[in-house]
Amino acid sequence: MAEQPSLIKNIIKKGIIGLIVGGVLVGVAKALTFPPVFQVMFFSYAILGAAVFILLDAPSIKPIGGLKAIVALVAFYAVLSGAYIGGATFLPQYDPEDEKGKIEKLLKAKRAASEQGKAEELLARAKALSEKADAIMARLQTVGGVAEAPAGADGAKAAGAPAGGDLVALGKEQWNLQECYNCHKLFGEGGKKRGPEMDNIGNLMKPDELKQKVMDPQTWMAEGFEKEYEKKKMPNKYKELMEEKEVDALVAFLSSLKNTAVNTPKPIKKK
Ligand code: HEC
Repeated sequence: MAEQPSLIKNIIKKGIIGLIVGGVLVGVAKALTFPPVFQVMFFSYAILGAAVFILLDAPSIKPIGGLKAIVALVAFYAVLSGAYIGGATFLPQYDPEDEKGKIEKLLKAKRAASEQGKAEELLARAKALSEKADAIMARLQTVGGVAEAPAGADGAKAAGAPAGGDLVALGKEQWNLQECYNCHKLFGEGGKKRGPEMDNIGNLMKPDELKQKVMDPQTWMAEGFEKEYEKKKMPNKYKELMEEKEVDALVAFLSSLKNTAVNTPKPIKKK
């Protein structure tokens, strides 16, 4: 029996090499910040490798056959299955339905929040698009007016008249788009935040003056609105929000407001 000590020696020698290789692998995996599962896996591979080499050098066993072989095979599978099942019970157990419920709960709040956000975003986008469409329409109309003008001296006047009407209509759109109605009552509507009624402004301010007021609200002050003027209630943002053409249209609209029945306050020049 000279083989027995050499088998033990074989196991010890290759086992030690396996442990060293495994240790090095774990060290490298840790240095490279692999997750712990991988570190364990690398170590297991090293030990498995050592086991294979041990088996390769192990003395051969007597061949078995017949019923004995079948029983041995079944026993081998039983042990292996037992090891797998036993090992698996140590891992955390998950019920998919349970997990689904938990995830659903977590997502519900988030989804509600993002859906509201989406609706708001869509509304904002729709508003921006309609503003753009209006701007394009305004430009198309002015381009059309210019293109028609040189067609003939008589045609220029004919084309000019409806263009003026269009300008007032475009200006009314600007009144609504820029939300002037929030502060100014007009045609008996709007003006929730206190500002002067506008129905007679066309009789009180010239187009140039109206333009000044819109572009720089500190240029003019409505009589009786000293406090609001000092507090700069009328926003100073339209020169950034509006294009020149849009301001001109708005001014044309304001100039057309000549209802003397309404007491629009007198404008006072400030700068
Ligand atoms: C946040 C409120 C607010 C908004 C929005 C607003 N205004 Fe005013 N506006 C005022 C107040 C307050 C006054 C009176 C004090 C002053 O003259 O600054 C005023 C005064 C005016 C006057 C002078 C009226 C007069 O009788 O002298 C004009 C013209 C005017 N606004 C036009 C507009 C136009 C056009 C818009 C939209 C592009 C607009 N405003 C948007 C608050 C506002």
